[in-house]
Amino acid sequence: MKRLGVLLSGRGSNFRALLAATREGRLAAEIAVVVSNVSDAPGLAHARAAGLPAFFFDHRGRTRDEHDAEVGRVLAAHAADLVCLAGYMRLLGRAFVEAHAHRVVNIHPSLLPAFPGRAAQRQALDYGVRVTGATVHLVDAGLDTGPIVAQRTVPVEAGDTEESLSERILALEHQLYPEAVERLTSETWRIEGRRLIFLAR
Ligand code: GRF
Repeated sequence: MKRLGVLLSGRGSNFRALLAATREGRLAAEIAVVVSNVSDAPGLAHARAAGLPAFFFDHRGRTRDEHDAEVGRVLAAHAADLVCLAGYMRLLGRAFVEAHAHRVVNIHPSLLPAFPGRAAQRQALDYGVRVTGATVHLVDAGLDTGPIVAQRTVPVEAGDTEESLSERILALEHQLYPEAVERLTSETWRIEGRRLIFLAR
C-alpha cells in the first residue's frame, strides 16, 4: 500500500477528502504523515484528532531550503511515497522538488494554465470565463506549472460570487483529488515532455 505525506497550511478539506477516501476504500493508500507550516491550521488539528502523525514546522526564521529540508526529513522518516499538497501555501524550493521529482502532487482551483497562484476563483470571475474547474498536477519548481494529472470543469453561473464559485469548485476538488491520487498510486505512468501518460495495464 502506498504511503502519502500531506502538506497543508489551513482548513484542510482536501486532506479530509483524501483521508475519507483511504478509509472508505476508494483510495488504496494510507496517510503516513501530515505536515503544516501553520501551527493552528484546522487541518493539522483534524489530523491529530484522527490519530495521524502530525507535525508543525515554522517556516519563519529559516531559509526556504532549510524549511523544505525539515519537511523532507519527516516525510522520509515516515516513508512517504507520494507527497500531496492540500492547501499548502508555500512554494517548494528547487532542491526539494528535484529530490522528490514526480513524487509531489497538488490541487489547484482552476483549469491550469489559466489562473495560477492565489485567488484563482476571483481571477476566473474577473476574467469572465464561462467554465472553470480544478486541476491536479505534479509539482515542479514553478508556480502551478507541473504536468497535469487530471482536470474537471464547473460552469460559472450568472450570479456567482467568489464564495459561491469557490464552493462549487471545492465540491469538485474533493472528488477529483482522491480519484487522481488513486490513479497515480495504482497505475503505471510516465512523463513525456509536459504530458503525464497513464499506460494501459
Ligand atoms: C483549495 O481550493 C485548493 O485547490 C487550493 O487551496 C485550497 C485548500 O483548501 N490549493 P483546503 O485547505 O483543502 O480546504
